[in-house]
Amino acid sequence: MIPTPHIEVKEKGIIAETVLLPGDPLRAKVIAETYLENPVQFNTVRNMFGYTGTYKGKKVSVMGTGMGMPSIGIYSYELIHFYGVKNLIRVGSCGSLQADVKVRDIVIGMSASTNSNYAAQYGLPGTFAPTASWELLKKAVEVAEKKSVSIKVGNIFSSDIFYNDDRESWKKWAGMGVLAIEMEAAALYMNAARAGVNALCILTVSDSLVTHEETTAEERQNTFTQMMEIALELA
Ligand code: HPA
Repeated sequence: MIPTPHIEVKEKGIIAETVLLPGDPLRAKVIAETYLENPVQFNTVRNMFGYTGTYKGKKVSVMGTGMGMPSIGIYSYELIHFYGVKNLIRVGSCGSLQADVKVRDIVIGMSASTNSNYAAQYGLPGTFAPTASWELLKKAVEVAEKKSVSIKVGNIFSSDIFYNDDRESWKKWAGMGVLAIEMEAAALYMNAARAGVNALCILTVSDSLVTHEETTAEERQNTFTQMMEIALELA
């Protein structure tokens, strides 16, 4: 069923088996233009830009997902089921839930807790634990160690709500050792698990719910580069 309702690509093979997934489609454009050789745009539907190029000779794509689990749920499902994508790597930002997770740190989601009902579709007789691909996680940790980039790996929280009426609710997740809050990883991990493909979520800490500190644009660019260098090596 290609093209799909949200991706206008008419042939398989135009999108690489490994796709980097920033939330912001303009980020996808910047990533393609900055890091990929010979990037070719493959999607403009809803301005959810996608590009394929090469990195160190390896074919890799980058595409926006939009914000939130419904949106990344759509794009990741179509990439996996209609375009044969095997490795889906979210590159995003998060809010820190722990005093020792500082703004500008890099967090990798080993698992993604959530307040979303996304897993209800599977009719499981219990609670599913959305988990990163071990292969991608292991490789990402190895790349970070080799580059001497410090990372924090652990449980993250994928929230359906950015402006939560209960301003203190994050503290309960923090009390369970959850490192950071974002809005997409759990759905990505579930789509990948259901399809038997690999997913990973790498994040830079843009703000802290603990200290209310925020990063400047310049600081964000620096850590963003480090995150991208890890993500691109996974292709
Ligand atoms: N909440 C949810 N998602 C986020 C945040 C946050 O504070 N920061 C970056 N992504």
